[in-house]
Amino acid sequence: MKIAVIQGPNLNMLGVREQHIYGPMTLDQIHEQMKGSAAQSGMELEFFQSNLEGEMVDKIQECLGTVDGIIINPAAYTHTSIAITDALAAVNLPTIEVHISNIHKREEFRQKSITAQSSTGVVAGFGPFGYHMALIGMTQILNEVQAQKQMQEQAAAAQAEAK
Ligand code: DQA
Repeated sequence: MKIAVIQGPNLNMLGVREQHIYGPMTLDQIHEQMKGSAAQSGMELEFFQSNLEGEMVDKIQECLGTVDGIIINPAAYTHTSIAITDALAAVNLPTIEVHISNIHKREEFRQKSITAQSSTGVVAGFGPFGYHMALIGMTQILNEVQAQKQMQEQAAAAQAEAK
């Protein structure tokens, strides 16, 4: 199973940026930790960060047929981007949105996520540990998808045999 981890604007500044909100870990450190836990569950991760909305849209489109799921922190685009929301809906892959901070107890403009309507689930407020939680959630979702596929295949095979 392969998962794309897509990080939005200013997340490349983690470790420097507003440490009282986002903590001291850098994005590279977060990704290293994720690699460790993904390896344990036999998952492959691909990392991407961009400060540009269009580049994020391109990356999401590339995910179609190349990965099994998406973990995304759209950062500030969470609250504004119809383009990212549409791209996620277009590829229609299992998607988990992550926010390091609890956006629901911050400024009013951060309390609404536009992009979340194209996500399977959302994790917010657990700091960088939220990415680990997203990996656990993604494993569960992908197992369910696989089990459902198998059941459908078995039902189709049984139907074919009965004919
Ligand atoms: C963020 C929350 C956003 O409101 C903010 O613009 C970010 C980071 C988070 O991870 O908590 O850049 O997505």
